[in-house]
Amino acid sequence: MTTGPPTPPIDEKTLTRAADILRRGGLVAFPTETVYGLGANALDTTAVARIFQVKGRPHFDPLIVHVPSLAAARRLTTAWPDTAQQLATAFWPGPLTLVLPKFQVSSSEFRVQDAQGPNSRLETQNSKLAPPDLVTAGLPTVAVRVPAHPVALALLRAVDLPIAAPSANRFGGVSPTTADHVQTELGDQIDLILDGGPCQTGVESTVISLIDPDRPRLLRLGGLTLEAIEQTVGPITLATPQTPDPQAEQRGQQSPGMLERHYAPRTPMQVVESISDFEFRISNFPEITHPNKSQPLKIGLIVFGRSADQTRSEIRNPKSEIHPTIEPLSPAGDLVEAAANLFAAMRRLDAAGLDLIIAERVPDTGLGRAINDRLRRAATR
Ligand code: TXA
Ligand code: MG
Repeated sequence: MTTGPPTPPIDEKTLTRAADILRRGGLVAFPTETVYGLGANALDTTAVARIFQVKGRPHFDPLIVHVPSLAAARRLTTAWPDTAQQLATAFWPGPLTLVLPKFQVSSSEFRVQDAQGPNSRLETQNSKLAPPDLVTAGLPTVAVRVPAHPVALALLRAVDLPIAAPSANRFGGVSPTTADHVQTELGDQIDLILDGGPCQTGVESTVISLIDPDRPRLLRLGGLTLEAIEQTVGPITLATPQTPDPQAEQRGQQSPGMLERHYAPRTPMQVVESISDFEFRISNFPEITHPNKSQPLKIGLIVFGRSADQTRSEIRNPKSEIHPTIEPLSPAGDLVEAAANLFAAMRRLDAAGLDLIIAERVPDTGLGRAINDRLRRAATR
């Protein structure tokens, strides 16, 4: 993690209020180390339905269930293979989500489960808890994660319930990395936003399926690097759009985080290998309807390993046809810093009334893979 601005403290009173809202079926946005989440009691179907409504999220896209500990995660699952134990021990709390077979209530168990109701306590009972079908989109699996942000952990412990939480943004858009992002986009539709400062990781968690325990599969690149995961459990099969999961395919669904167009600003976006090899001429952007040909094209540039001044002197802009607004992700070329800045930079450019955003790819290693993945999806029309 980077050392960023300090986390604003959350007082006990606010935490208690947040936990009360969640217990009564409300929605609370909260910070995690990756992005801000939009949380509801995962055992309360009505509350979870509100998440889908507020986000405009299709019901085929399952939610991650957040818990305060490994033990709490196990209560939602029926299998806990060695690979789950190794990954959870190594990386929780942290930006890793594990997909495992979910605990399902059989008819004989139903009465017990039912009596527990939607406010079954996570940490005070040892029995299993069944995530509802709405949370898991009808899949026989559940995605679980223990987030590393102190405010998220404090909230999860205070509420003592599993909390379903997608990123706190409209479906398909750019994930929020500050409380302000959430306030601007969804503020009037949720009951409380906990401000924990800017998220330090800045891209969503890495999602790994352990449905076949001997063959971990990557469902989404994210804040925990593939390199770190492979050091712990050996080679990971990549479930890219090019190599889809045959089982999911049969059910008619991939992991929906793999939708090609996602994490996208409203402004058209294009990804290039390097800004310095790129010729900035209006004629190079035939797809952009340029409102006023006598005005320079308003372009946003997302750059890596160069400052704004460096960028201005390096781009080939022969006729000064382009007026660039520049967002350097990390002038020093640090991928961790770049990931932390990515979504806020995309949001600022999106708010600037530009004709086009051009982003240069970053090195495809470590967190760079997740950054390139988000850039590519954001640019997909
Ligand atoms: O970092 C994060 O993961 C953030 C914070 C708030 O924790 N959450 C987040 O949630 O990014 P969301 O809903 O935006 O993305 C959840 C991803 C989706 O790609 C979804 O398809 C996948 O997790 N997912 C959830 N349950 C799954 C399941 N049972 N099987 C396969 N994929 C699943
Ligand atoms: Mg999301």
